[in-house]
Amino acid sequence: MPIIAPSILTANFLRLEEELHMLNISKADWIHLDIMDGIYVPNISFGFSIIRQIKTLTKKPLDAHLMIIDADRYLKEFKDSGVDRLTVHLEACTHLDRTISEISNLGMKPGVALNPHTSLEGLQYILPKLSMVLIMTVNPGFGGQKFIDYSYEKVRKLKDMILDSGASTLIQVDGGVSKSNIKPLFDAGVDAFVVGNTIFSSSDPLVMIEDLKEMNNLS
Ligand code: DX5
Ligand code: ZN
Repeated sequence: MPIIAPSILTANFLRLEEELHMLNISKADWIHLDIMDGIYVPNISFGFSIIRQIKTLTKKPLDAHLMIIDADRYLKEFKDSGVDRLTVHLEACTHLDRTISEISNLGMKPGVALNPHTSLEGLQYILPKLSMVLIMTVNPGFGGQKFIDYSYEKVRKLKDMILDSGASTLIQVDGGVSKSNIKPLFDAGVDAFVVGNTIFSSSDPLVMIEDLKEMNNLS
């Protein structure tokens, strides 16, 4: 079964409590939090006060995706805010091995995200230390973008790399996931799916999440 991690970036923040209630009663597994600093990506999203309030409203694991520079400054504050999984961008971390170790030492599950253009080679030596690799399937910064088709090959190559290494690292994709690509992505080896616009623009988000989870009624 696919892990479904709705991204609240495209949720209605004026009704965030209701949106989280919907997610709580849905078949969603995690809640994906897109943290953007306006420097690493050309957008600014939300910070710790929102994360702490979200933590009081859900029991589902918080899966934070850091699209920020100098993430090392904030690792403990993410832990203290209730984040369960913390994913940093390979391209934004000068000392990635140390950052990953620090995330684990704080008691969070470490992940590394790759932008679409970034090759897999940089993961070779740290893969066994990672709970998850996030393959960006859009250029980061915004919800509702078009899925990048060359992601399929990248997922298959990453799956082979993980199997060859004997690691139990999860593969997550993020960006443009919909009913038309979730099944081929799952078949290519993806374990976890970040889904934003497909869910929050749907006329019935609860049904959409269930269809994605069960892979029913796919277009
Ligand atoms: C983009 C974010 C994604 C995005 C996914 O930078 O990392 O999580 O919100 O949203 P959709 O599913 O709308 O592409
Ligand atoms: Zn994301």
